[in-house]
Amino acid sequence: METRELLGTLFHYPHPQNIIFTKNITESLNLIIKGLLQAGDHVLVSALEHNAVMRPLSSLQKKGIIVEQIPCSPKGFLAITNVKKLLRPTTKAIMLTHASNVCGTILPLQEIGRLCQEKNIFFIIDSAQTAGFLDLNFTELGSAALAFTGHKGLLGPMGIGGLLINDQLAQTLPPLIEGGTGSFSEQEIQPEHLPDKFEAGTLNIPGIYGLNAALKYILQKGITTIREREIALTNYFLQNIKKTPDLEIIGPQEAKNRVPIVSLNFPGRDNAKISSLLAEDFQIMTRCGLHCAPSAHKALGTYPQGTVRFSFSHFNTEEEINYTLQALQKICQNYPSV
Ligand SMILES: Cc1ncc(COP(=O)(O)O)c(C=O)c1O
Repeated sequence: METRELLGTLFHYPHPQNIIFTKNITESLNLIIKGLLQAGDHVLVSALEHNAVMRPLSSLQKKGIIVEQIPCSPKGFLAITNVKKLLRPTTKAIMLTHASNVCGTILPLQEIGRLCQEKNIFFIIDSAQTAGFLDLNFTELGSAALAFTGHKGLLGPMGIGGLLINDQLAQTLPPLIEGGTGSFSEQEIQPEHLPDKFEAGTLNIPGIYGLNAALKYILQKGITTIREREIALTNYFLQNIKKTPDLEIIGPQEAKNRVPIVSLNFPGRDNAKISSLLAEDFQIMTRCGLHCAPSAHKALGTYPQGTVRFSFSHFNTEEEINYTLQALQKICQNYPSV
C-alpha cells in the first residue's frame, strides 16, 4: 500500500486502490487495449507509438477494430487540429505515448485530454518516457488510464510496472488475468473491487520494494531538480554535437519540448557499427536500430536504418558528455563514410 501511495503522490492521484501493479507497461497497455476495444470501435494513436501499443492493436484490427494514426511532423510534433479532424462518432479511445522514445518530442497531452473529456472518449497515456521526468498530474491530464513502467525514469528495477485507472474505466474493463487475490476466497469469480480485480496471482514483491525505494528517492530529490539537470545535460550534448559534421539530430534541435534522449543518424555510415564501436572501444552504451517503434521511424524518415539513441540521467556529468563527444569525433574520423 505504501508504494501505491508514493505513486499516488508522484502522479497527484490520491486513490491508492486505483493504482494497479503489472510486470511492465506492455502488460498494462495490453490489459487496457484488449479489455476496452470491441469490433466496430475506432481508436486513434500517434504516428510515434511503441510496439507495446501497435502490436496489440494490430492483432485487434483482425477482429474489426479500426485503428488510425494521427500524423506528426518530421520533427515529431503533433497538431491538435489533426486529432480533431480524425474523430468519428465511433472513436472509443485515444492512446498516446507522452513522448517519443525515438526523437524525444513531448506531445501536447493536456489539450488532447480536454478534448477527450468533452467528447467522452477514453484517453490512455503511455508514460514510459515521461514518468520521473515531467511532473504528471493524472487528473489534470484528463486521462482514464496512465500506464507506467518501473525501470526507466522511475529508477526502479525491471519487471515492475502498472497503471493508474479512473473508476469509470475500471468498471468497464474486464481483467486480463483472473485467479487468486487473497480476498473473497470463498468465491470462484474474480472480485470487482480495486486493485484486486486486475491483480490475480502473486505480485512481483521484490520489484515493488525496489520501486518503493526509487520513488522515495525521486520524491525526496524532487522531480523539478531531476528534470532541470537532465534538460541541462541534454542541451549541453545537443549544442556540442551540432559542431560534429556528418550527422543529423532527429527531432527538435533544442532541449525544449524534449525528454532527455537524443537520436542521431550518421548518413553514409552504418548506425549499428557506430553504436557497437561506442560500446566496444569507449564503453558508452547507446541503443541502436528501430527502438521497437517502426512507425515512429517511418514518420521521422529514419526507417529502415534506424538511429543511435543517447539517453541522459541526472546521474550523468558534463565530463561524461565531453568523453562521448570526443568518442564520436574519433569514430567519425577513423571510420569514414562510404
Ligand atoms: C514509449 C514506450 N512505451 C512502451 C515501452 C515498453 O516498456 P516495457 O518493456 O517496460 O513494457 C517502452 C520501452 O522502451 C517505451 O519507450
